[in-house]
Parts: sequence; structure tokens; C-alpha cells
Amino acid sequence: MVSTDSISTLRADIASRPFVAKLHDWVTTVDHKRLGILYIVYALVFLLIGGIEATIMRIQLIRPHNNFISPSVFNQMFTMHGTT
Ligand code: HEM
Repeated sequence: MVSTDSISTLRADIASRPFVAKLHDWVTTVDHKRLGILYIVYALVFLLIGGIEATIMRIQLIRPHNNFISPSVFNQMFTMHGTT
């Protein structure tokens, strides 16, 4: 039988592990619940990046002959937004 003492000791051990060890656990996990969380975080991060790229294009196109970004940077934002 597992006492509550041993559970709380276990939690304290997990909490005190170094950041790199925790990161390693996350990027090498096969736990479906953690993988689900990683999918959600991945999608949200790329939604944010694509949104930033779209916003940069929108600012450039907000009025004619705008000089917010150069034509070359606009092309880069277009390609990266499409890819993202
Ligand atoms: C899942 C795919 C995509 C999503 C969710 C998405 C979403 C968006 C959003 C929300 C905007 C801002 C709209 C605005 O400012 O009026 C935008 C702008 C834009 N997107 Fe996408 N986009 C996607 C794919 C693409 C692709 C594949 C291309 C082209 C290869 C593209 C080209 C553009 C361009 C040129 C703009 C700027 C238009 C403007 O602001 O007038 N997008 N996108």
C-alpha cells in the first residue's frame, strides 16, 4: 500500500529536477497525453508566427505606396506566411 507520504516525496523529487532533464522528458515523451499537449502548443505557436507575418503584410498594404517593408521583405513574409 502506498502512503500519502511517499506520494508527496515523489512529487517533490519531480519538482526539483533540473530544467534540461524536464525538457528532455518532454521532447522524448511517448505519453499520448503529453503528445496531445505538444500538438496543441505547436499549432498555437505556428498560428502566432503566421499571424505576425500576416500583420506585417497588412501594415504594408494598409495604404498605397507604403514604405513599412521593402518589396524583398514583403516577398519573404508572403512565402513564410504561406509556408507557416
Ligand atoms: C491555413 C492557412 C492560412 C491561414 C489561416 C491564413 C490566415 C491569414 C490571415 C488571418 C490573414 C490576415 C488577413 C488580413 O489582414 O486581411 C492573412 C493574410 C494574408 N495571407 Fe494568409 N493564411 C493562410 C494561408 C495563406 C497562403 C497559403 C497564402 C499565400 C501563399 C497566404 C497569403 C496571405 C497574404 C498575401 C495576406 C495579406 C493580405 C492582406 O492583408 O491584405 N495565406 N492570412
